[in-house]
Amino acid sequence: MGLSKNARLDWTNQLGACDISLRMGMGLEIRPYEPRDSAGLRQICCDTADAGQPVERFFPDREVFGDLLTNYYTEYEPQSTFVADQGGEVVGYVTGCLDTKRFLSTMKWRIVPVVLVKALRRGTLWHPQTARLLRANIGLWLKNGHRTGPTFDDYPAHLHVNVRQGFRGQRLGQRLVATFCERARDAGVRGVHAGVSAENAQARHFFEQLGFAELHREARLRKPDGSGDILFTIIYGKKLG
Ligand SMILES: CC(C)(COP(=O)(O)OP(=O)(O)OC[C@H]1O[C@@H](n2cnc3c(N)ncnc32)[C@H](O)[C@@H]1OP(=O)(O)O)[C@@H](O)C(=O)NCCC(=O)NCCS
Repeated sequence: MGLSKNARLDWTNQLGACDISLRMGMGLEIRPYEPRDSAGLRQICCDTADAGQPVERFFPDREVFGDLLTNYYTEYEPQSTFVADQGGEVVGYVTGCLDTKRFLSTMKWRIVPVVLVKALRRGTLWHPQTARLLRANIGLWLKNGHRTGPTFDDYPAHLHVNVRQGFRGQRLGQRLVATFCERARDAGVRGVHAGVSAENAQARHFFEQLGFAELHREARLRKPDGSGDILFTIIYGKKLG
């Protein structure tokens, strides 16, 4: 489904007018998240978890992964999530948070404890794939527990964006990010950041094209394959002047 240059420019202009629900032809629109979108959003989250590849490449339980990656956004701050909708079906989303300190506190005290109990009940914690992941990473995660400094002060909001395979390269990702940034700017937020796997060249190019700049790199994951290799996350930031 190609789009003409004029159509692309129209979108950009509409965005400047801060239209939060945008129709894009072929039944596609960007609109605010609604509870009925939960299953579709979680499916895309799990299908794209590993730089666009399915979560099963490194974690065995979609239910637990979906809770960890989406519950804050859909249950505690749904007004900052937007979906790309085609005929009532979610084909892409941006989940976001205007205040990452609030996000971390909610994750620590409300979401992670509940998910841990669920993971225990479902046997996820004892799954060999989880055990390998934890063994390889627990030291790293305890050391790098949370980000501090300029990221939070200057870029307090953060976002995650994913588009279903077959719908990529049609400016949906760009529109979703722009819609979230518009909301954050309207709320008086100074800047937004996003983490991208250093190995995900396409996503890095995507964020750079949208005016995000590299702030710093963090060691986030040690490969559970025994190699000891560390995967880095690049934190990108953009000021919302
Ligand atoms: C990354 C992703 C969100 C981008 O969304 P998208 O709708 O495909 O991207 P857009 O069509 O809005 O592209 C906007 C710009 O980003 C760049 N871009 C997008 N996809 C790209 C790719 N595969 N390779 C290089 N650049 C790319 C281009 O510069 C593009 O502008 P252009 O068309 O004028 O060249 C989407 O491809 C995706 O979900 N990928 C898999 C999961 C993922 O990596 N998510 C990001 C995790 S941080």
